[in-house]
Amino acid sequence: MYECDNDKVKLRLPRPSDGFVVSELISQCPPLDTNSTYCNLLQCTHFSRTSVVAELRGKIVGFISGYVIPDKPNCLFIWQVAVAEQARGIGLALRMLRDILARNHSRQIVTVETTITASNLASWALFERLAQELKAPFNKSVFFDSSKHFSGNHESELLMKIGPFSTQHEA
Ligand SMILES: CC(C)(COP(=O)(O)OP(=O)(O)OC[C@H]1O[C@@H](n2cnc3c(N)ncnc32)[C@H](O)[C@@H]1OP(=O)(O)O)[C@@H](O)C(=O)NCCC(=O)NCCS
Repeated sequence: MYECDNDKVKLRLPRPSDGFVVSELISQCPPLDTNSTYCNLLQCTHFSRTSVVAELRGKIVGFISGYVIPDKPNCLFIWQVAVAEQARGIGLALRMLRDILARNHSRQIVTVETTITASNLASWALFERLAQELKAPFNKSVFFDSSKHFSGNHESELLMKIGPFSTQHEA
């Protein structure tokens, strides 16, 4: 039995006051890189229209940060996806992605990009499922290379590009 019922999880736009808790959630979701609290505060303010918080009985159990790539106004870049262990396996990550894409502010979005390390199978499964739902093609390429960009201290980040897809999304 799931510890958490999807119907009880409410999605909303992040607020500045969420930044600190979001930072804690991310630190509890390896292999995500932890960020400074300041970074999460900015995500919850300047980038709230393209980000989402999931709450269960007032507690944040999910978060996605995203932004529209500055020189690609039709492309939503998903930065991080975090779901607390208690809320995994009930489709919450997918639901949060749909929620961002269904917003009025996302009407112009026809492609989604994200980066994923080769070993993060859950993340590949999530975004391949999104591509399937959007009936969109996808491709993968190296974006940040382990030795060239991380001095060998981090796995390569592979770019997954989904789209183009229809701009009619449903939450
Ligand atoms: C990855 C993560 C966000 C998935 O959250 P979730 O809410 O459990 O995912 P969903 O229930 O929406 O699942 C979406 C799809 O991904 C698949 N999936 C999710 N977790 C999986 C796992 N551990 N292994 C394989 N597939 C997985 C699901 O089966 C589902 O596909 P399906 O509908 O075809 O069955 C969550 O496990 C997490 O926070 N992990 C740690 C942080 C991380 O790796 N984030 C992603 C990098 S940005």
